[in-house]
Amino acid sequence: MKTLMVIGLQWGDEGKGKIIDQFAQKANIVMRYQGGANSGHTIIVDDQKVVLHHLPSGIFHKGIRCVLGWGMVITPEVLLDEINTVEGLMERSLTSEDLVISAHCSVVLPIHRRLDAKGEGGQSPIGTTRRGIGPAYEDRIGRRAIRVWDALHLNREQLLARITRLYQNRFDDHHAFEGEIEETVALLESFRKRVGMYVSRVNDMIRQAIDQNQRVLFEGAQGAMLDIQQGTYPFVTSSMTGLSGVYASLGMFVPIEHRLGIAKTYVTRVGLGPFPSEVSGDLAERLQDLGHEYGATTGRKRRVGWMDLVQLRYAVEANGITGIVLTKADVLNGFDQVGVVSGYRRGKETLSSIEGGFEIDGGIEPIIEYLPGWSSVVDSKGQWSAEMSVFCDRIETFTESPVLGVSFGPRRDQIAFRGGQNLAQLFDGMV
Ligand code: IMP
Repeated sequence: MKTLMVIGLQWGDEGKGKIIDQFAQKANIVMRYQGGANSGHTIIVDDQKVVLHHLPSGIFHKGIRCVLGWGMVITPEVLLDEINTVEGLMERSLTSEDLVISAHCSVVLPIHRRLDAKGEGGQSPIGTTRRGIGPAYEDRIGRRAIRVWDALHLNREQLLARITRLYQNRFDDHHAFEGEIEETVALLESFRKRVGMYVSRVNDMIRQAIDQNQRVLFEGAQGAMLDIQQGTYPFVTSSMTGLSGVYASLGMFVPIEHRLGIAKTYVTRVGLGPFPSEVSGDLAERLQDLGHEYGATTGRKRRVGWMDLVQLRYAVEANGITGIVLTKADVLNGFDQVGVVSGYRRGKETLSSIEGGFEIDGGIEPIIEYLPGWSSVVDSKGQWSAEMSVFCDRIETFTESPVLGVSFGPRRDQIAFRGGQNLAQLFDGMV
């Protein structure tokens, strides 16, 4: 059995990309299972910076099949752009061996971005990426979404009628949008022509791959605390970002042997919502500058805070995490002390656990423990710093999940493994 899920354990942007890429290069199949163009994954190919929004980075490697599972919402023009960019850089066409798209995926349309922007301009903004993700999932739940299947099988009149109805549902003056509706139909027609060859059944393919003992990687986007059910609702994204999302997107059960969680050594969040360990002032600026904490999709400055152990334990439990990898430890190099939140105070009450966003919704004070800072994770001989070990031990004790490794820079070799444990063991020598 060689199945692995890798997800972020905080509010996204945990630096999952580097870890996922390392596993992906040895996988037979990499499947994204939720979200869409709200995520952004920057990679460097031939000295050129490429941001992928839908496609897993495994797409650049021959022999790895990248799958867009049916829990995803796909923005046609963004995906087409990505496919064109990848083909340009690789100087070859992608085939159905490289890319498989589930016909069940919903499509993100111009109306969804319009509605997202309208919602964000209203009374209760969430701080979304404005990519239309929430409204597209609303249409899914409302049983009126245009799926990839529809884009492939409905004729022009049928598409026109379905899309017109989406506008009629939302706008009294829907006639004002006739031009946009026409453009949407044309967009879906070009999407059909270009991606039709990649669309096929995902569950049969994954089942067969697992039966043949192939390596399958389930790649999460965003983070555990942005999960629509388990996160800090309503300040969440609209998909299931963790383990439940994998199953919702597969349409069947397969054992997922390893469930790896990625956590930054400090915490960041973009968008609004609870963030009990948030810091401000000089400390915040220092973390933002050192960690280059600006969003890959929107360029927004990220909010920053100390590692929150209560939140981390919640995310570990919610997703059956079997091991943690810490990232960006180098950002804290040289700090005299490093904070970790081990509880919250609300009046006279002390909270040591949370259920989603309720308890951390406001009116609480974090209980911060300060641990000694480190000057580097490992020295030039590869010896672990004692302070870094204390930090990892505290996380292990609190979350009851092993810290398998610590990443301390963007390079592939800038990762140290704990106690002889090697990530490679996770995926039968994959790394
Ligand atoms: P949406 O997913 O665009 O609807 O945004 C909902 C919330 O999720 C907002 O707080 C976003 O900032 C956050 N979010 C969405 N995608 C990402 C991501 O890839 N990284 C970090 N936060 C994200």
